[in-house]
Amino acid sequence: MTHDFDREYWERHWNADGVAVGAGRLPANPYVATETAGLTAGWALDAGCGNGGEALWLAQQGWRVTGADISASALATAGARARESGLEGTVEWVEADLTTWEPGRTWDLVVTSYAHPATGQLDVYRRIGEWVAPGGTLLIIGHSHDDHAGHGHPEHATATVDGAAALFGGSGWEVDASYETTRVVETGRGRTELNDVVVRARRV
Ligand SMILES: C[S@@+](CC[C@H](N)C(=O)[O-])C[C@H]1O[C@@H](n2cnc3c(N)ncnc32)[C@H](O)[C@@H]1O
Repeated sequence: MTHDFDREYWERHWNADGVAVGAGRLPANPYVATETAGLTAGWALDAGCGNGGEALWLAQQGWRVTGADISASALATAGARARESGLEGTVEWVEADLTTWEPGRTWDLVVTSYAHPATGQLDVYRRIGEWVAPGGTLLIIGHSHDDHAGHGHPEHATATVDGAAALFGGSGWEVDASYETTRVVETGRGRTELNDVVVRARRV
């Protein structure tokens, strides 16, 4: 892949009815459930929410959710999914570029699942970490550096667990979980094995 992961790319990715080619309306990423199981529901941001699977799942668990994405098409589908699921009004959908957005507030939980912007992974992880409230949690789910050959992601769209966790290794943060893992997903293009990086850090 030689393209930039810019707004035009993501608008093309989410086609006319907002369903990503080959991806469809996937259920929530399972690591969101496992890694938030011990948290008390509060205010949550899904940074790069796509067509809303994770944001809507969090809303169903009682979180008051903001879903932010650079793609208006993705957000339109996310809104439609909310209506179809009887969850209309439970998520605030915000069209925003994570690399420049200044939300002017914090959340108890900031989640990002596979969002890979043009600036690369670590910059955006550092940026969204600033939006976590004291005592709150940052959950990063990204494509593993080791995945880029198999799943077709260029290197700058991937992360290593050490690289992502190191961002939150200093004072002010506790890293509660950091690991690499593998899962198989069914997409419109068949079965795909994903090698993932998961980092959960708490702002102290
Ligand atoms: C691979 S999709 C993942 C969607 C969803 N989070 C999931 O796990 O299925 C990446 C998402 O990140 C969004 N994105 C990429 N760059 C972004 C940016 N700079 N600001 C906001 N969203 C961005 C894309 O529009 C897309 O919806």
